[in-house]
Amino acid sequence: MSKILNLDLGFSLVSKKDREKYSKKIEDIHNLIYEKKGKGNEFTDWLSWPSDYDKKEVKKIENKVKWMKNEGIEILLVIGIGGSYLGSQSAIDFIKGKMNMQDKIIFAGINVSSSHIKQIEKKLENKKWGICVISKSGTTLEPALSFRHFKKILEKENGSLAKDYIVAITDEKNGSLKAAATKNNYDTFVVPNGIGGRFSGITPVGLFPMAFAGVDIKKVLAGANKASKELNNLNNDAYEYAITRFILNSKMNKNSEIFTTYDFDLDMTSEWLKQLFGESEGKDGKGIMPLSVSYSRDLHSLGQIIQEGKKTFFETTIWINNNKEKIKVEKDKLNLDGLNYLSGKTFHDINKKVFDGVLSAHHKEGGIPNIVITINDNSEETLGYMWYFFFISVTMSGYLLEINPFNQPGVELYKKNMFDNLKK
Ligand code: PA5
Repeated sequence: MSKILNLDLGFSLVSKKDREKYSKKIEDIHNLIYEKKGKGNEFTDWLSWPSDYDKKEVKKIENKVKWMKNEGIEILLVIGIGGSYLGSQSAIDFIKGKMNMQDKIIFAGINVSSSHIKQIEKKLENKKWGICVISKSGTTLEPALSFRHFKKILEKENGSLAKDYIVAITDEKNGSLKAAATKNNYDTFVVPNGIGGRFSGITPVGLFPMAFAGVDIKKVLAGANKASKELNNLNNDAYEYAITRFILNSKMNKNSEIFTTYDFDLDMTSEWLKQLFGESEGKDGKGIMPLSVSYSRDLHSLGQIIQEGKKTFFETTIWINNNKEKIKVEKDKLNLDGLNYLSGKTFHDINKKVFDGVLSAHHKEGGIPNIVITINDNSEETLGYMWYFFFISVTMSGYLLEINPFNQPGVELYKKNMFDNLKK
């Protein structure tokens, strides 16, 4: 496969003829997107970001990471929630491997769980660590509380040096985090105004933690840039995916999309997708509920209801074509488990057979529409490309639903209610 990402609609139960009925609509929306005339267009700066990004700022990120490492900082505590964390965590898992990074990058600020905070404190004990606090608004309660807590510990341990071990990523001018960063002289990076939280993985929001994890961030941007060049025309797979989802939802009554993965390192990619689609589409009583399963694990739990329950959903599988770990099944003398017929095969080959078996059971026997997205590998370039593919798809999807894909009034409402309750 030469393409970085391949879309297979052969199991989707939506025909090419059905999709073609929407070609005029797609064209109109395509023009809206690129002429920046659609709802929320002030938040579409991500469209050209992969080529327009500030090269000096990326260099500054790389230099600060280098400085922290030279100082002997072993752990980066990343504090943020929603769009201010899902991009970096999913990218680091995807590229570096979920378990490989667990002791080098720790995420906080995603809850108000005392037990979680205590466990993080334990992990940081007797280690040299720094903080990367990320909040566009600077006022989100969960990360702000975590920052207050861990900053105190860092200051106790490092005295006046602590400020150099803190990096703040926030709005250029406004918000309490910006004010704190200015007052305390923290190094800061900017969350661009024209890019919303769920699209911000390609900005310092995602790039700083990724760089600390050893990800080549310029390659991520290069992958996104490649996608921006390949997907900026009328006949592209991102639009095909969007229109297929739209037909499944509006004509075939499929109200949920289950993101299905077969790789341990893709669990957080599913979480990232749930935010991207859920926050972008779910408004005005519309939208497809995004869900996720991690196979094989969930074949032994939700697998039953997916196969034989009420068919109100479709599946979108993300399959990684090449796996660099060539782990083979060994031959066993006694063969008591009877598995010698698999000896010599790689775990990846067997995983592919699992996928083929599920696809056939769900699609053929179960009548479940399946969209299959195959990506080449787990490289930086592939990640950047895949993210941009979904950015374009969700924009088209939102405009097909005639909503503003770039705001999140429901999320803001919970924040307001929570503050009101806390002040009571
Ligand atoms: O997509 C969004 O805008 C939200 O999920 C935000 O990213 C999330 O609420 C965190 O907001 P902030 O970065 O302002 O702390």
